[in-house]
Amino acid sequence: MSASPGKAVRYAYLVACVAGVLFFVMSVGLLGVWPKQVIDAQTAAMSPAHPLGLSASALRGRAIYGREGCGYCHTQQIRYLHTDMSRFGAPTLAWETRFDYPHQWGTRRIGPDLSRVAGTRSADLHFAHLFAPRSVVAHSVMPAYRGLFDGAADRPRQGARDLLAYLETLGRAREIAGPEGEAHARAGCNCPDDEMLQMAFEGAVNAHSARTRREGDVPALPPSTDLERGRRLFGDHCVTCHGETGEGDGPGAAALRPKPGTLVEHAYTDARLAEVLWHGVAGTAMPAWRDHPPADLAAIAVAVKALRADRPEPALPAELQELGARVYAANCVQCHGEQGDGRGTAAAQLTMAPSSFRDQRPSLDHALRVLRNGVDGTPMAPWTGRLGAPEIMAVAHHVRSFYEGGTR
Ligand code: HEC
Ligand code: HEC
Ligand code: HEC
Repeated sequence: MSASPGKAVRYAYLVACVAGVLFFVMSVGLLGVWPKQVIDAQTAAMSPAHPLGLSASALRGRAIYGREGCGYCHTQQIRYLHTDMSRFGAPTLAWETRFDYPHQWGTRRIGPDLSRVAGTRSADLHFAHLFAPRSVVAHSVMPAYRGLFDGAADRPRQGARDLLAYLETLGRAREIAGPEGEAHARAGCNCPDDEMLQMAFEGAVNAHSARTRREGDVPALPPSTDLERGRRLFGDHCVTCHGETGEGDGPGAAALRPKPGTLVEHAYTDARLAEVLWHGVAGTAMPAWRDHPPADLAAIAVAVKALRADRPEPALPAELQELGARVYAANCVQCHGEQGDGRGTAAAQLTMAPSSFRDQRPSLDHALRVLRNGVDGTPMAPWTGRLGAPEIMAVAHHVRSFYEGGTR
């Protein structure tokens, strides 16, 4: 037997040991250190110079988000897939979650992705939903988080407010960065000029289909007479808030400000219903329903029209006509507009668009109620302090005269 195999065997432990250490160091370098450097460099290059951090309240909210296990059902990462992008918006870039330690990306999507939820829902809707998800979304499997409230959806404890503050940061940084931010991120993107790069910056940053808008084109609804289908869809999606009969008294309505519209008390033009379903009602809990097929929206519109209580509608008595027009011109035009189209000079400043009386006509009773009590949660104030009973009666008649939808 020669000496060399013996020597090799004798040093084998050393060879294995050195190889092992080398392999370990190489793995840490290749899988840990190097990717972190690449990501850090890319994040720094793409991120706005001073992205907004989280407030103390939002930080507490994030801890609650972790504690309550929201991440087991909700992701916070929009993937480079057309199905994700059309539902939620632009894919998540690394810099968007740079303050997230530990990150809340999540792994399963039982509920929708939340990474662009900021500005998508109103606060009252968030609270009603967290308190009792099924009070607003009929078939929801999301658990109720009653412990965050003091017995009712409109009495959130600090925990619920913190959680909301956190939710309102999700997607905010990228939206605030705006078009310049997008251009900066695109320039700093060290990604190859391939499909991925295209997709990262394609389309709207936030494409959430329930997000309300105040302006924008609305596709006309196709003609429909499918009342039965409309009623079923109304039952699935609208009854929770608007109630079976459209009185605005569904189980979710109690905590909402303003309350859901009283559909029984209104005549609507087709254009108005198309607008409400496509855009939602900005500044209120009324979500948009853009992701529903046009034929379904048309059927829902048929069902909404069928809810209107068929009462004889009183005409404007001749002696009140002039008074009504005068009171309107003196008090209402700045919001509701000279033509009653809701485009008064102050309208853009308001959190919620003033009603366009050309597109929707309240019943006389409803108009009187609104003028006496105002609409809680909107800029529409009560007028009893400033107008006498005859003036209120006259102007209530007057606003009804703008309607362009005929008798339907
Ligand atoms: C068991 C799974 C589950 C858990 C846990 C859960 N959710 Fe949900 N969540 C859902 C489902 C399903 C929906 C869709 C139906 C609905 O809107 O209720 C949803 C919807 C939502 C929405 C509306 C999203 C949108 O795009 O309109 C928000 C916001 C939300 N959840 C927040 C939370 C928060 C915050 C927590 C933790 C406190 C949480 N969820 C925990 C399943 C869950
Ligand atoms: C989460 C609660 C909620 C759900 C669900 C909901 N709405 Fe609404 N809806 C509201 C609120 C709040 C308003 C705003 C009321 C106002 O304008 O004062 C509103 C307003 C409206 C209006 C305009 C009313 C007006 O007089 O200005 C229409 C029409 C309407 N909703 C129809 C629907 C239909 C159809 C559905 C189902 C596809 C639906 N809503 C689902 C809460 C809801
Ligand atoms: C500061 C702006 C503002 C002024 C001034 C104002 N309104 Fe309004 N009004 C609103 C807003 C906003 C709404 C929408 C509330 C809603 O949809 O729930 C509204 C709603 C209404 C409604 C209910 C419409 C419906 O279909 O339910 C009536 C009726 C009404 N206003 C009449 C008047 C009259 C009459 C005057 C003048 C005496 C007046 N408003 C002055 C902002 C204003």
